[in-house]
Amino acid sequence: MNAFLRLLDYARPHRALIAGAFVAMLFYGAGSAGLAWLIKPMVDDVLARQDQLAWVTSAILLTYFLKGIGAYFSSYLMDDLGHRVVLAVRTELYGHLLVQSAAFFARRTTGQLLSRINNDVNMVQRAVAETVGDLARETLAVVGFAGLLLYYDAGLALVCLTAAPLVVYPLVRLGGRLRQVTRWSQEALEHMSHVAGEAFSGHRIVKAFGAEGREAERFGQAAHRLYRMNLKVTRVLSLLPPMMEFLGGLAVVGAIWYGSGEIAEGRLTQGEFTSFVAALMLMYGPVKKLSRVNANLQQAVAASERIFELLDIHTEVQDAPEAPALPRFHEAIEFRDVVFGYEDGHGRHTLRGVSVRVEAGQMVAIVGRSGAGKTTLVNLLPRFYDVTGGSILIDGHDVRTVALASLRAQIGMVTQETVLFDDTIAANIAYGVPGATTEAIEAAARAANAHEFIVGQPDGYDTRIGERGQRLSGGQRQRLAIARALLKNSPILILDEATSALDSESEELVQGALMRLMQGRTSLVIAHRLSTIRRADAIIVLDRGRVVEVGRHDELVARPRGVYARLHEMQLLEERPRPGATGQESQAVR
Ligand SMILES: Nc1ncnc2c1ncn2[C@@H]1O[C@H](COP(=O)(O)OP(=O)(O)OP(=O)(O)O)[C@@H](O)[C@H]1O
Ligand SMILES: [Mg+2]
Repeated sequence: MNAFLRLLDYARPHRALIAGAFVAMLFYGAGSAGLAWLIKPMVDDVLARQDQLAWVTSAILLTYFLKGIGAYFSSYLMDDLGHRVVLAVRTELYGHLLVQSAAFFARRTTGQLLSRINNDVNMVQRAVAETVGDLARETLAVVGFAGLLLYYDAGLALVCLTAAPLVVYPLVRLGGRLRQVTRWSQEALEHMSHVAGEAFSGHRIVKAFGAEGREAERFGQAAHRLYRMNLKVTRVLSLLPPMMEFLGGLAVVGAIWYGSGEIAEGRLTQGEFTSFVAALMLMYGPVKKLSRVNANLQQAVAASERIFELLDIHTEVQDAPEAPALPRFHEAIEFRDVVFGYEDGHGRHTLRGVSVRVEAGQMVAIVGRSGAGKTTLVNLLPRFYDVTGGSILIDGHDVRTVALASLRAQIGMVTQETVLFDDTIAANIAYGVPGATTEAIEAAARAANAHEFIVGQPDGYDTRIGERGQRLSGGQRQRLAIARALLKNSPILILDEATSALDSESEELVQGALMRLMQGRTSLVIAHRLSTIRRADAIIVLDRGRVVEVGRHDELVARPRGVYARLHEMQLLEERPRPGATGQESQAVR
């Protein structure tokens, strides 16, 4: 219920709309009752005495007309309200999800999140449009009919309306059950969306491992579960109409039984009685809709609870209150006794007391075995995560105390896995600088050794590259990512070198582009290649979350039994790929 009240909050700004809808509902309610009332002159005057024909027929037409106008505007305006609420909820939810932390996204899949944004929000829309609209409109109609019944014969009306309270208990019971099964059904829908989303985005692996059948079966199971849950919902929903109809039948029987006596004793005319029964039967429609209102309401509550669950999660990395902007970087980056553990890392610390100082203009290489914590370390600088202990300072400012936007504006990133968007090449390069001129984009592309392959594309810079840049080669994707970082032109650079992904020619191009990118910047490079490492001003060797060695290549190699010397010996650090030795196989099926 709480969730529903919260939902109504979103409708509050649209008071004028609601007032308009309410006026339209008054027309609808009055028109409904008016039609039933007109049955009396129809029977008593027109049919019995051939009188008042013109008056009664034009009144009937006019009433239908007004009722129609009321119906049109009330449903149109309420639908508008529903769509506006959905618009507000959906955009708020999306904006909220987008700023959540990396930890949040690590726990949920794209399919699941999409399902909430689409399916749950849709269900809420139905509720606001139908439920609130029906509730107001049909209540007015019922009140109109009931008023008419009481006006004709209060005793008779009370006999018939005694059935009403009998309805309430089963409705409430069914409502509770419905809320539960709706939740299950929405969960099943979310699961199905998750299964499909995973298979689509991993379609190459699915094919390469011949898992189409298995994936189809997994989806089939999810779809079948959804079917069973939907059936549960239907079972509850279908109970309502026959139940209501039966109770309506009881009321009519009561009316005939009691009303025939009233007519015999002359307290009611036949016209009045017919009109009475007509009003009673006409009441069935609105009452049936009202009985569904609670059902819809419960379904909406189930869906909005799922939406508010997400809206109430706050894992976003936040600005400190009135955080000042970080001045342009000029001196040094310092990691000071940094301790870090992932939330779901079972209490283990991934980084354990890391202290590193990088002077402005330096290129520092970070090396270490897989899982040593290299990516984790560099992710702390732009605050994708916050440190568990210690601090990170840029020119003496703790990164947690400065405005996030100003911090991230000074950091360029080229990640191990290139992330591109389904847009034009130019738009991808200009992703960090949306207003960039064509000249600037082209200059960045040239510096990234990408210009040549770009002009060879069917539409040059306007070529669309597909989801995640699927229509490009691995090396081309990397060079676009480098051009993107070049254009952003930030003083600090974080580079996660890809391993063995490229043939020697692409490698040459990418390396050249990277060299140009690092020029005049301060770079933290997670390095796997000796060529990069040899050029580094300092090499930091990480092992199981600790800095175990710091120095230049020659010093570290010379250290007997050093971790770096061992990495070097075991050739875990790559030489330039030999001509002909391509690493493409490892990437071909990504
Ligand atoms: N989101 C996460 N949640 C929990 N644990 C994580 C998460 N990401 C990484 N880890 C763990 O943290 C440790 C360090 O991971 P990290 O990605 O920093 O390694 P790395 O040094 O970059 O390795 P590689 O060279 O293979 O990329 C690993 O043991 C990994 O299992
Ligand atoms: Mg890594």
